[in-house]
Amino acid sequence: MDCLDLYQTHWPAVPPEATPIADTMECLLDLKRQGKIRAIGASNVTCAQMDEYRSVGGLDACQPRYSLLDLRIEADVLPYCHRHGIAVLAYSPLEQGLLTGRIGMDRRFARGEFRNTIPWFRPSNRARVLGMLDGWRDLCEAHRCTLGQLVLAWTVAQSGLTVALVGARKVAHALENAAAGDLRLDDVALTRMRRDVEALGEPAE
Ligand SMILES: NC(=O)c1ccc[n+]([C@@H]2O[C@H](COP(=O)([O-])OP(=O)(O)OC[C@H]3O[C@@H](n4cnc5c(N)ncnc54)[C@H](OP(=O)(O)O)[C@@H]3O)[C@@H](O)[C@H]2O)c1
Repeated sequence: MDCLDLYQTHWPAVPPEATPIADTMECLLDLKRQGKIRAIGASNVTCAQMDEYRSVGGLDACQPRYSLLDLRIEADVLPYCHRHGIAVLAYSPLEQGLLTGRIGMDRRFARGEFRNTIPWFRPSNRARVLGMLDGWRDLCEAHRCTLGQLVLAWTVAQSGLTVALVGARKVAHALENAAAGDLRLDDVALTRMRRDVEALGEPAE
């Protein structure tokens, strides 16, 4: 390609090699001026860090972690992006597969696999999530969709959310996930799912 549609920083630089955000942004703006990139994004940033980006030039997109099981950005990053016209590309919207309902109680992950570090994957917490998902089978039937598609449709319906970045290792899964883009949930379903996830509370440590 001659030009990248979107160029995003992954994580903010940290000491001892911390590059000031202003320097990073100057570099990104230079790439934009050269026509090598069309849009600038930053992943895993706070509102204060986005302020720093925006003090140098236009920030087009933000890429935070967000799923039904991790709603933390609703408190600050989502409204901030909405206010400043910044697109939000949410990563891990299926909570690394847990929200498809297809990671059963007996699934074990290899040593070093990131999922071992996510509290929701621990057996007692996982059982609670699977129970919640099971309660949405009627919604899946009504919408003729899978649990994963239901969850993705809920995710992109949230105010301020632009895109759900869904990971997949299988073609069939990628096609299934992409088809969720056609699914629209009504307010009753959206509210019910939020209420259920709020009732689930936090994962036990
Ligand atoms: N900016 C960042 O710091 C950051 C961090 C993480 C990810 N990301 C980006 O976000 C994207 C998505 O995040 P993610 O991969 O962490 O999480 P995700 O989309 O929540 O989960 C992806 C995993 O879910 C499972 N899955 C996906 N579709 C499925 C289906 N239809 N049925 C059953 N299982 C399914 C697969 O697990 P199996 O592997 O078990 O098949 C897949 O690896 C990544 O590709 C990456 O580009 C960015």
